Parts: sequence; structure tokens; C-alpha cells
Amino acid sequence: MAIPLATPLNQVIQRKGTQSTKWEKYGDRDILPFWIADMDFASPDFVLQALQQRLEHPILGYSQQPDSLTQAFQGWLVHHFGWQVREEWIVWLPGVVPGLNMAAHTLTSDQSIMIPTPVYYPFLAIGENAHVEQILTPLRLVNGRWEMDIDHMGQQLAKNTKMVFIANPQNPTGRAYSLKELQALAEFIQTNDLLLVSDDIHCNLIIDPLAQHLPIAHAVPEIAKRTITLFAATKTYNIPGLSCAAAVIPDAQLRARFQAKEQGLVSGVGPLNHIASEACFNDRSDWVPNLLTQLRSNYERLQTVAGPRMSTLEATYLAWIDVRDLGLNDIDAHFENHGLGVSNGKQFGLEGHIRFNFACPEATLNEGLARLRESLST
Ligand SMILES: Cc1ncc(COP(=O)(O)O)c(C=O)c1O
Repeated sequence: MAIPLATPLNQVIQRKGTQSTKWEKYGDRDILPFWIADMDFASPDFVLQALQQRLEHPILGYSQQPDSLTQAFQGWLVHHFGWQVREEWIVWLPGVVPGLNMAAHTLTSDQSIMIPTPVYYPFLAIGENAHVEQILTPLRLVNGRWEMDIDHMGQQLAKNTKMVFIANPQNPTGRAYSLKELQALAEFIQTNDLLLVSDDIHCNLIIDPLAQHLPIAHAVPEIAKRTITLFAATKTYNIPGLSCAAAVIPDAQLRARFQAKEQGLVSGVGPLNHIASEACFNDRSDWVPNLLTQLRSNYERLQTVAGPRMSTLEATYLAWIDVRDLGLNDIDAHFENHGLGVSNGKQFGLEGHIRFNFACPEATLNEGLARLRESLST
């Protein structure tokens, strides 16, 4: 079925039969998927048009990232965050997750890394992948909001700890860290002579109008030389299957060490992937504001069902819901029996919680919320 361009966000698009990871997971069972982080919205027409134009050429060979991609990305960073980065600071990657792992591979096996949790589950494999020790440090819940516990991080720090990994905005807790929090983290990084890897993939998805995304290397420039910041347009524009990411690394030595790990570890960026991302980085239309309006409305409706079980969300379309009071033995089975496919918090390093992806058209959300209401009342 051909999808018309400029598809309204509230149009339900049948995704079954498209090999969608999200929609094929539960086969023929009557389970609505609210798990993996992709949205049930059509990608914007300017992205689809750029892809169609590229497909007019019949060969999709190995591809170089053109200067126009880098320039589009630089312009996008200035437009959204007022951050001017030099061309040479940018390293193109076939995804954010490879970038996280490459960063850890720059370390030696006698060093360790620190990761605040709960966190997007591929973070939890970084240490083992890079053969370095991994110290997990819990985020703490303060007045319904998840925060980094810098004092506790200081206590957990080992002599050999060299690198801290964060997601900002945070997945799965939906925090967009404030300037004060980033300053405290930056001080911790500097005082302890550490490096920081910040995964900023959700940077445009600011749900709370009072919150903002601050890339730490720009917000606290004193630590820029200690940072690797990872960006991608793929979440915002719903093209996660066309992954393409950029690492911004101001320090030349760190950048060289990072780039050296690319060899044999990660592949290049596919031609369709960088064409799509370039179209996103050049976007100045109202597509993202419209998306945020839809996501805010969905979030408010979810709030009415999940209530105080859900922690305060400032960013992302992923709600974090505490279901410990339900006393469930098998969280997955419980929600699946109510026709809901959600992410189990255990995957992110914290049991007794679920992550609920609310980026879908109203009709899908209506059905999901009816099922959620029932599942939380039993
Ligand atoms: C925090 C975070 N980082 C990275 C990714 C995935 O990035 P990529 O597909 O570019 O590897 C996701 C996807 O959900 C995410 O939430």
C-alpha cells in the first residue's frame, strides 16, 4: 500500500506485514505494541521525497558522507541548541549504539566505566563488549523526578574509573537534565579526571514546555574536551531503521583514539541513511512542533490513566511507570494478558517498572489506555 506523503499524525497506518520489529513481536496475538522506541507516525514527506529522489539512481553502493550532510548537521546544532561545532569535531557513525561502544573501546582493560541506571539497555552491555569493568550507579527518585546522585557516584567511583556514560534526555526516565544538574556532573567529571559520553539522541523530543535540551559540552564548555556527544535525527523524524549518527568530539586526541576503533568494528553509513538524515537536519518546517503537540496531548492522556505511578517526564515519548504495588510475579505476562506489549523495566536495570511508548495515533492510544486502565486496576 502506497502511503501518501504528508500523512497526518493521527492516521493509523497498518505496520503489520512490514517486518516492523515493534509490530511483528507478538505475531497474531491481540497485543498492541507500546515497547520499542519507534513511533507509529509516518516520517515527514520531505524525508520520503529525498529518499525517492535518491532511488532514481539504481545503484546503492558504499557511500561517503557528503560535506552537505556535515553542514546540515552543524546548522541544525546552531538552530536548536546555539552550539557551533567545528567540522573536524564531527565523526559520522552508522548509529549511536556503535558510538557508545567505540567510546568504551578507547579504554584499556584495567580501566572502568560508570553508568547511571535505569538506562537504555544497550548501555548495560558496553562494559562487557569493551572488556572493561562496569560500575552501575542508581538514579534516585526525588519528588517524582529521577536525578543523578552525584554524591553516591563519588562514593562508588573506583581508582581506575575513566569514563561515565549518560543519556540526556534520559531513557527510560524521560529526564532532560537542567543546567544545574549538568554543572554538578561536569564538576564531578573534572574533579575526578574523567571522560563523559553523552547520548543525546532524544534531544528534540522535549515534552515539558518548561524543559529544554542542553548538550553538556556546550552548556558547560569547561569540560568540552572531556566529552563525546552522540546525536542522531532518527528518533525525532521516526527513521530509526535508517540509522546514521554523529559523534561530536572537540578534543583531537580523544577523537583520534575514538576513530581508530572504527576499523573493523563498525560499518559505514548507508546511502539512504545519510540522505534521510540530511533532509532532517535541514528541516525548519513545523513538523517537529506538530509532533510535539501530538506527543504532549498523548502524554497528558496517559497521565490520567497511569497517575502518580508515572514519574515526571520532560522529554522522550517513553513513560516510566512504577507497577511494584501490583505485586506481579511476571510483568510481561500480566500486561500481555491485558493486550499490551510494554518494555519490562528489568531490561533497563530496574525491576517493578514498565516503559510505555506513547508515540502513536489517537485511535491506537485510546485502545491502549483502555487496556492499561484495566491492567493497573487488577
Ligand atoms: C538513548 C538511546 N540511544 C540510542 C538509541 C538507538 O540509537 P541507534 O539506533 O542510532 O544505535 C536509542 C533507541 O531507542 C535510545 O533510546
